[in-house]
Amino acid sequence: MNIQRPLVEDQSYLRHFWHPVATLQELSESNAQGVGPIGRVLLEEAVVIAKLDDKIVAMADRCAHRFAKLSAGKVLPDGRLQCPYHGWQYGSDGKCKLIPACPNDPVPKKAFTQAYECEVKYGLIWVRLDSSWNCSSIPYCEAWENPEFKRQIIGVPYDWGSSAERRWENFTDFSHFAYVHPGTLYDPAYSEPAIVPIDRVGGELQFFLEPGKDMLNTLPPESPLGSWTYRAAMPYSINLSIRLYRNDQPFLLWTTSSPVTADTCRNFMIIAHTDPDIPDDQPIRFQKIVLAEDQPVIETQPGGLSLDEISLPTDKVSNQYRKWLRELGHAATLGKEAFEKALLTDIIESR
Ligand code: FES
Ligand SMILES: [Fe+2]
Repeated sequence: MNIQRPLVEDQSYLRHFWHPVATLQELSESNAQGVGPIGRVLLEEAVVIAKLDDKIVAMADRCAHRFAKLSAGKVLPDGRLQCPYHGWQYGSDGKCKLIPACPNDPVPKKAFTQAYECEVKYGLIWVRLDSSWNCSSIPYCEAWENPEFKRQIIGVPYDWGSSAERRWENFTDFSHFAYVHPGTLYDPAYSEPAIVPIDRVGGELQFFLEPGKDMLNTLPPESPLGSWTYRAAMPYSINLSIRLYRNDQPFLLWTTSSPVTADTCRNFMIIAHTDPDIPDDQPIRFQKIVLAEDQPVIETQPGGLSLDEISLPTDKVSNQYRKWLRELGHAATLGKEAFEKALLTDIIESR
């Protein structure tokens, strides 16, 4: 299908947000020392992650010399990252500190690789490619905030052949439940979705849905049926806080889609619940069933969102999401002030 008119022409605004690129566990399992390096792609850019001198850093995955990938190199005992090709050594600031072929000559000024802002939160490694405006935060996750949660599970990331936008829309799409998840998440008898108020608060889309309680009779007990409160930090994060109908306990499904390329995404999942005796693989297994229902459908969609798609009133969440993406994309072309205003101006519809 041709995308005649893309929803957002210039995607560079996405560089101003924090995106997860790996779990801490992936880094610690990358080699015997648990320090990497590991290579990832974020917004089409190759990024290397490594632990240098006990600090986790992110840099452009390209040696300044002959452009070999630093992620194929190694971390030296003195905390430098060494290129695999001719052994140039980089520090945590991205600057080359030593060129072994001519160790007594000064290191050229241009001998550096771009260092990016890198933080660890929720057991995930986050990167912000462009920090010049410094007006975005790592998205909210309730898993460690709510003392009712006794168990937090950081899922193994999964890759989809779809854009991060499509994955976000899929997760928040009310009208697909009856068709893609009959008998797992929804009863097809409830195929007409509610149209709910949607607020913009502090860079998040917030909304609430209360699916029919009668579905308890037909869905499996693992299905997280309850009242669903969404806090979706722009552009790709969703904190779905559930109050389960079956036992009135909280249950959290948190997801963030990381944009790898225009057509691929890497997805991070955190589940939190109140029963420490439930083995972790139980809720994960159910999520895998749900994901296996979604993925083949979503991967049939083209990556980019288009203005030529038909939007119904029942697509309200997606419509609001797209509207905001367009505003952010446009505001970013005007500069920091406009972007900050577009991201952080609250619009309240629910009261
Ligand atoms: S390409 Fe990295 S040292 Fe030559
Ligand atoms: Fe789904």
